[in-house]
Amino acid sequence: MNVNLRKILIYLLQKIYKLNDWQLSLLDERPYALEVVRECSKLYNTWGGVCIVEIGCGIGEIIGHIHAPNSLRYGYDINWANIKAGRIMNRNVCFRFGTFEDVDIGKIDCLIMVNFTFVIEPQKLAHDMKKLLSRNEVKIIIIDTYRNNEGTEYTYSHDGNMLFGEDYFLSKRSRGFKAAHGARRYIEYWGKR
Ligand SMILES: C[S@@+](CC[C@H](N)C(=O)[O-])C[C@H]1O[C@@H](n2cnc3c(N)ncnc32)[C@H](O)[C@@H]1O
Repeated sequence: MNVNLRKILIYLLQKIYKLNDWQLSLLDERPYALEVVRECSKLYNTWGGVCIVEIGCGIGEIIGHIHAPNSLRYGYDINWANIKAGRIMNRNVCFRFGTFEDVDIGKIDCLIMVNFTFVIEPQKLAHDMKKLLSRNEVKIIIIDTYRNNEGTEYTYSHDGNMLFGEDYFLSKRSRGFKAAHGARRYIEYWGKR
């Protein structure tokens, strides 16, 4: 489906499901999201069929656009309206209502959690991640971190060492992307040792 058709469809779905205005910004308008799509598509090229999970997936613009034919894609979100619209917009994604504690996939090649964890307290997120990692084997975790975020909506910039423990190492950090109110967003890739 071309970009203009996608725009029209999302406007209609916004009216029907009363989506948050934020969901109107499709993938091409968000460079950080394009970066995640590009990097995950490279993983597919290296590994072949993969299992990708995204928590806080919204309508699935990131997970739905990763080039990974014949792969498994699970998108979790706590907003039913996003899930309903996502099921129409990104049909290759298996959407589930839920969050960290609901992920029970088993073997996950790539776990994406971007553009929402900045409101979760580090202790709480570390606790949720510990439980998730005890139930699932995850090869790569993708999270966003921030600089110049003091006084902005991006309350917390997380430390992967604290969240994921010694089993994971920072394999790559992206360039900085412009975020609201002068903050910079970085995409980090944490690999299992
Ligand atoms: C700003 S949108 C970002 C969507 C997507 N990650 C992206 O960057 O394109 C944040 C999404 O995270 C969801 N969300 C917020 N807190 C969550 C949580 N604790 N667990 C799962 N989803 C959550 C919201 O419902 C919303 O759909």
